Amino acid sequence: MKRVIPLVFPPLHPAQREVVGAAKRFNLLRCGRRWGKTTLLLRLAAQAAAERGQAVGWFAPIYSLLAPAYEELLRRTRPGVVRAAERPQPVIRYVSGGRIEFWSLDSKDVPGRGRAYDLAIIDEAAFAPSLARVWEEAILPTLLDRLGSAWIASTPKGRNAFYELWNLTLDDPAWAHFHEPSHRNPFLSQEELARMAATMTRERYRQEILAEWVDAEGRVFSEDALEAALLLQGPEDPRPGERYAAGVDLARSQDYTAVAVLRLGAQLELVRVERWRGLSYTLTARKVAALLARYEAYAHVDATGVGDAAWEGIRAEWPRVRPIRITGGRDDGRETRSKENLVGRLQSALETQELLLYPHPELLAELRAFEARPLPSGGYAYSAPEGLHDDLVMALALALDAARASRGTGQVLKVPGRWSGLRGGV
Ligand SMILES: Nc1ncnc2c1ncn2[C@@H]1O[C@H](COP(=O)(O)OP(=O)(O)OP(=O)(O)O)[C@@H](O)[C@H]1O
Ligand SMILES: [Mg+2]
Repeated sequence: MKRVIPLVFPPLHPAQREVVGAAKRFNLLRCGRRWGKTTLLLRLAAQAAAERGQAVGWFAPIYSLLAPAYEELLRRTRPGVVRAAERPQPVIRYVSGGRIEFWSLDSKDVPGRGRAYDLAIIDEAAFAPSLARVWEEAILPTLLDRLGSAWIASTPKGRNAFYELWNLTLDDPAWAHFHEPSHRNPFLSQEELARMAATMTRERYRQEILAEWVDAEGRVFSEDALEAALLLQGPEDPRPGERYAAGVDLARSQDYTAVAVLRLGAQLELVRVERWRGLSYTLTARKVAALLARYEAYAHVDATGVGDAAWEGIRAEWPRVRPIRITGGRDDGRETRSKENLVGRLQSALETQELLLYPHPELLAELRAFEARPLPSGGYAYSAPEGLHDDLVMALALALDAARASRGTGQVLKVPGRWSGLRGGV
């Protein structure tokens, strides 16, 4: 017997229909504002749960974005609803046996933990902190048992993790990629479009309406610089006769410890990047020292805000390390660096191809997201945007600093003529 459950959704508009018609198991929907993303996703969720009795996970970057989706679904599918529960976690259950569970991606809990879904939906995915990790560690596992499918939709936000996920999946036949400017929503009035456009800079218009990838305002490491520097294939094991320098960003409480190792030559070549968290200080020190010893690398270690024991633990096992304290003030040329200078030197080393990289996804994501924000007091604050990390960027900046210092201490480092003398060593 076919159970008929009234679903009060408007018919799809032609662009939405096109997208649904070309859907694959995993779908990335990159749309301009007001294209009809949320309307489409709500309908897909409701159809799966209310009509087909499936289990659906609905994910949003922050809790306040969940409530409207939950209420809209209740409003539109009320006759098919058995039970709706708001606490501790919003869930809608349908007479079909299907359900929709709502998760915010900003909670400490692993969203989707222990669940199996037929369909996972992420709305405004570009605003999720650590989208790549959330997708891989939390959401994808919910889809394995039932060979579930996914829709990941957003308006772009710079070249952040959403951009990364788009690029990483381009050649994967399980993924479909849709790029839809706002204009393709026929229900969007010309006035509304004009009103939105009027308040936007050209760049924002390209991002918000045309759904193009646009460099975020205040971005420090430009796409051109990264492209120029990304010439290597890595990682690379130590080679006999070569010399190495490294940078280490030690974890403070919950964040990551990151290590970057450079090979010293005519250019500085990134040969290894590592990042981890959750180890004790002792184990972290041991792991860092082992990595440095493997490359016999001279290393600069960020000792800001960690106890001396943290970096001394490294030095006990590998003596060629120097603690560096990073401040908002000036360099003293010895053990204190301003963050601005460290970052500025990294920026120009990439732009001039003094420093070459291999495509390490997390490092690239951090470099792309890294921002300079103007301060009310004048000057800039350099860091990752809220919710993202910059430990790999800082490890790389410290590795560059160490490479230059080792040049300064008489260990010869050849730099191509046209760049030599442009920037002083340490
Ligand atoms: N198939 C449709 N039929 C009629 N109206 C639609 C349809 N799809 C979307 N709309 C209307 O277009 C407008 C934008 O839709 P929606 O909120 O789903 O877009 P969005 O891409 O999620 O927007 P935002 O960028 O603000 O999150 C809404 O007024 C919505 O009612
Ligand atoms: Mg929306």
